Amino acid sequence: MGLAKSIDGNRLQQIKDSLRNSYTKQSATYDAQRTISANGKFFFEVAYQTIDELIGPTDEDTVHVDMPCGTGRFLFYLCERGRTHNMLGVDLSPGMLRTCQHKAGERSKTVSLVMGDAFRLPLANDSVDILTSMRFFHLFPRRYWPALLAETYRVIRPGGFLIAEMRNLFRGVAGALYVEYRDRWFYGGRRRSYVWPHQVGGLFRRWACVESRGVGLDGLARLSAVAPGPARRLHGLTRYPLCRHLAKELVVKAYKPLH
Ligand SMILES: C[S@@+](CC[C@H](N)C(=O)[O-])C[C@H]1O[C@@H](n2cnc3c(N)ncnc32)[C@H](O)[C@@H]1O
Repeated sequence: MGLAKSIDGNRLQQIKDSLRNSYTKQSATYDAQRTISANGKFFFEVAYQTIDELIGPTDEDTVHVDMPCGTGRFLFYLCERGRTHNMLGVDLSPGMLRTCQHKAGERSKTVSLVMGDAFRLPLANDSVDILTSMRFFHLFPRRYWPALLAETYRVIRPGGFLIAEMRNLFRGVAGALYVEYRDRWFYGGRRRSYVWPHQVGGLFRRWACVESRGVGLDGLARLSAVAPGPARRLHGLTRYPLCRHLAKELVVKAYKPLH
């Protein structure tokens, strides 16, 4: 049992090292690569808009941690929309944090940044009102998700909440088969981790008042190139269960219970 645990710990360390190096290498071009296609741009817009809505009202004292913050895309998006609460970005990659710092300087925005590991956040217990986590969980095999969720639970204060984006495996049965095989054959066997919508309740068992939204419906990015308004309006359908189940990502909002 002890040996199995340490082998698994070594594997986790390898994954972290590989992610840290890979994101540090791509940090200077990360933003441009993500928004080069109409699909990337549309997806970025609808995801951030959905999460902004789920955050709801904030005030000057609200403590919001974005983890991982990467190049700060989401934090700067919020600043541009007039949010002025306390924002802290946490990331494991020194390169991503450097890019984020550089962007903050260019925009004259104040966001605090700290290098840290999601599995051992450099934050006190019950110290955070809102923790957002985008494009992250899928980077780790599902067996590590309970540890990631337990660490976010530790730092969020009772009554505070987590908003986490997770890849949706469902996307219709054909979609499920497609992503499984695509990842196996086209991404060099590196499997990404997905969640089925019905598994969300189990994953967030300790949390209260869990709700999820869908982000990204196939075809809408193309439509947005010619008719951005209708595409955005149609994307609003992901609030409803059937369309949520067909979305690429599930955004889960979960509260830490008060008692
Ligand atoms: C796909 S990027 C997402 C960044 C950002 N959330 C966004 O939406 O642009 C994944 C990020 O996870 C960070 N990362 C990887 N492993 C981590 C860990 N164990 N703890 C904290 N950050 C980590 C990487 O450095 C990278 O910035």
